Amino acid sequence: MPLTVLQHPLVDHWMTRLRDKRTEPAQFRVMCKRLTWFLLIEATRDLPVEVVRIDTPLEPFEGNILASDIVVVPILRAGLGMLEAVTDMLPHVSVGYVGLERDHTTAEARTYYCKLPPVADRTVLVVDPMLATGGSAEIAVDLLQREGATDVRLLAMVAAPEGVKRLQARFPELPVYTSALDRELNGQKYIIPGLGDFGDRLYGTGVAARE
Ligand code: PRP
Ligand code: URA
Repeated sequence: MPLTVLQHPLVDHWMTRLRDKRTEPAQFRVMCKRLTWFLLIEATRDLPVEVVRIDTPLEPFEGNILASDIVVVPILRAGLGMLEAVTDMLPHVSVGYVGLERDHTTAEARTYYCKLPPVADRTVLVVDPMLATGGSAEIAVDLLQREGATDVRLLAMVAAPEGVKRLQARFPELPVYTSALDRELNGQKYIIPGLGDFGDRLYGTGVAARE
């Protein structure tokens, strides 16, 4: 499985700020959006383009525009934090949603919602900030492949080696882009050092959330 770990001082900077437990939800959401831009640029580097002829105010110009149809699928709920970065950059993107939730005791993911546009013959960007055990990503990619998707790419902010290994075994061709490859999972299947519960930090729903 092709794994790309972003290497960039700005990515490191914003990842460190994102991980910081003092970062409040409002700032967390802004940083999440910035980091998604970097992931998106990397994940779309090889997209096909087509030549178009336009006129600049000074002379005719032959340039490239994107030639593929793109679908973005945020995994609810934390993936919603990455959605706007993609729709900003790709205004014509189609959006599908998959709702997945890990059981608090077993860490097994279950699907509670699925609404997808056509995905066959399209580039499908799955956005989910945390790749921990890989259970959620495995369900999402499997679901998309059953719908006929052949070009699926996963964008995650933090990945654990355990999740990467699981996806590698199940989907050897799946490209995964992450801004950080962390050390391991803890006993509760949280990523270490990680950043805690992404959804809670994004939406201020953690036990430590303030009024
Ligand atoms: C988080 C995260 C991923 C999943 C990763 O979602 O957004 O979807 O956990 O863990 P896994 O790789 O072990 O499956 P969570 O289930 O906490 O739901 P939420 O986004 O609604 O908070
Ligand atoms: N989900 C999260 O939000 N954080 C983790 O560390 C693992 C799964």
